[in-house]
Amino acid sequence: MTKDTSQDQSNPLHEPVLLGEVLHYLSPQKGESYLDLTAGYGGHASAILESTQTPSEMVLVDRDENAIGELTKKFGRFGKDVNIRREDFLSASTQLLGEQHKFDMILADLGVSSPHLNVADRGFSLQHDGPLDMRMDQSQELSAETIVNTYTEAELSDILWKYGEEPKSRQIARLIRHGGPFTSTTQLAAVVSKAWPGHSRVHPATRTFQALRIAVNDELHMLEHSLPLWLELLTPGGRVAVISFHSLEDGLVKKVFSENAGDRYDSDLRLLTRRPVTASATELATNPRARSAKLRAAAKLK
Ligand SMILES: C[S@@+](CC[C@H](N)C(=O)[O-])C[C@H]1O[C@@H](n2cnc3c(N)ncnc32)[C@H](O)[C@@H]1O
Repeated sequence: MTKDTSQDQSNPLHEPVLLGEVLHYLSPQKGESYLDLTAGYGGHASAILESTQTPSEMVLVDRDENAIGELTKKFGRFGKDVNIRREDFLSASTQLLGEQHKFDMILADLGVSSPHLNVADRGFSLQHDGPLDMRMDQSQELSAETIVNTYTEAELSDILWKYGEEPKSRQIARLIRHGGPFTSTTQLAAVVSKAWPGHSRVHPATRTFQALRIAVNDELHMLEHSLPLWLELLTPGGRVAVISFHSLEDGLVKKVFSENAGDRYDSDLRLLTRRPVTASATELATNPRARSAKLRAAAKLK
């Protein structure tokens, strides 16, 4: 019999980051409802389910087809008690709000999963040679290849500056525009590296890849418009936690949380974390993906 590795907890496809911290801040209680907006491979969701036992409602959202396949394998046996939705979190949040749902706990663990980075065909990694894809939702039309080969130099430079904070955005945009057409990740990484000759601690194309990924998946726009909806989707006393992986995301979370918390008469949020929580040395030793993870959490007052 072949072994089902998706169920093998000693070898998970994706190791959930800051799991202990998420459980601490979401503080799940028996019977409470849970909305996971980036359910991925279900690591956080499994731990929450274990604590809530029979949640009054559990909704798991992800835009990636492979993640949905794994979530269905893992949680399908719960039938209607666990609602698995293949959708981006902005549409899912809008719909849930329209249907008057409320949740005691909401989690968004942003960004990409380990399979996105480890499977060369997904085109997210500059370490593996793969097609220039980078789509989280495989049914979407826009891919990194389209951006790299068809956007103007000015548009490329703008993306690299805004989403990658790349100091050499103009030079790299020029190299890309004149160095293509590009079909693979390593081909692009090699051309971008020309802008940064000599030794550097991180791969010189890291910021370019981050910028393209954010643009392909419209990540910041979705987060910015979803955050206020997540606060609306909380029950009084409900908790929300967001894990981000770069300063642009963390800045948006910080802004929306602090705008809604504070001493004003109409504040309806209490910050549970004054500063972002980061991974312990023990976690970092076993899960390098946790290196840039930052967790912020808040509770709804009324
Ligand atoms: C870091 S992983 C989440 C891992 C998950 N917490 C676990 O324990 O397995 C992020 C997931 O969010 C999904 N994702 C990212 N942005 C999304 C969006 N806007 N809408 C829906 N899913 C999204 C990705 O496809 C990926 O599976």
